[in-house]
Amino acid sequence: MNDDWPGADRREPRVGDRFYLARVGLARALRLAFAELGPGPLDVVDVGCGTKPYLPWLRSCAGSYLGVDAYPGPYVDRVSPAERLDFLAAGSVDLVLSTQTLEHVESPARVVAEARRVLRPGGVALLSTHGVFPFHGQPQDFWRWTHLGLKRLFEEAGFESVEVRPTDGIASAVLGLVDFYAYSLGDRLPVFRFLRYTVHPLLGLVAPRLDRYAGWLFETSPLSINYLVVARTPRP
Ligand SMILES: C[S@@+](CC[C@H](N)C(=O)[O-])C[C@H]1O[C@@H](n2cnc3c(N)ncnc32)[C@H](O)[C@@H]1O
Repeated sequence: MNDDWPGADRREPRVGDRFYLARVGLARALRLAFAELGPGPLDVVDVGCGTKPYLPWLRSCAGSYLGVDAYPGPYVDRVSPAERLDFLAAGSVDLVLSTQTLEHVESPARVVAEARRVLRPGGVALLSTHGVFPFHGQPQDFWRWTHLGLKRLFEEAGFESVEVRPTDGIASAVLGLVDFYAYSLGDRLPVFRFLRYTVHPLLGLVAPRLDRYAGWLFETSPLSINYLVVARTPRP
């Protein structure tokens, strides 16, 4: 089941994959956060689910798993904007998962408020989004974040113990941008496609190994391709 389910390129990104640097740290951070959830059974809502790429990792602890997306698709159970989850009662869900969707919504504050509303007391929101990444519509792309901006967004919605985890670091973020444009050069100018087999895999190997040193060198100016927010609703 795990191997056949879509999104293997997100769960197990490989050096050389086009978006390796944007996905490798995120996959690691999600795996860790899922392991912290406890045994379940949990009622899970995946907001902006796409193909529900992380469902295989939650299968053992999910009692129910509802995929919500603004656009229909074979893995979408409910078509709805993330800002309006009217079909879910307040306090009816244990885990709201939302990966790489917040940058695409019109109102992030309303999305986070809806996640807060539908979660049970002590429920968990796991939400990932971009710190640094080139514009990519799907169909829109509105927002980028800092760790403090995300923390504030969730605290203002009434979450507590809001932890914002960078999924990678400065080297991955900076070299990831170089990598993105080096790779994309080949789209228009085929003569540069050799970069895809040289510079691209090299940066995929090197950048994550440099993150710890870059973080130490530039301590006061952190940067990450993605952040993962781990936030809980207050217990009664
Ligand atoms: C980059 S994809 C991420 C899909 C999946 N969560 C993942 O990690 O692979 C963004 C998803 O958000 C959906 N989306 C965009 N705007 C949305 C909105 N306002 N409400 C709900 N889903 C939205 C898109 O249809 C798309 O499936």
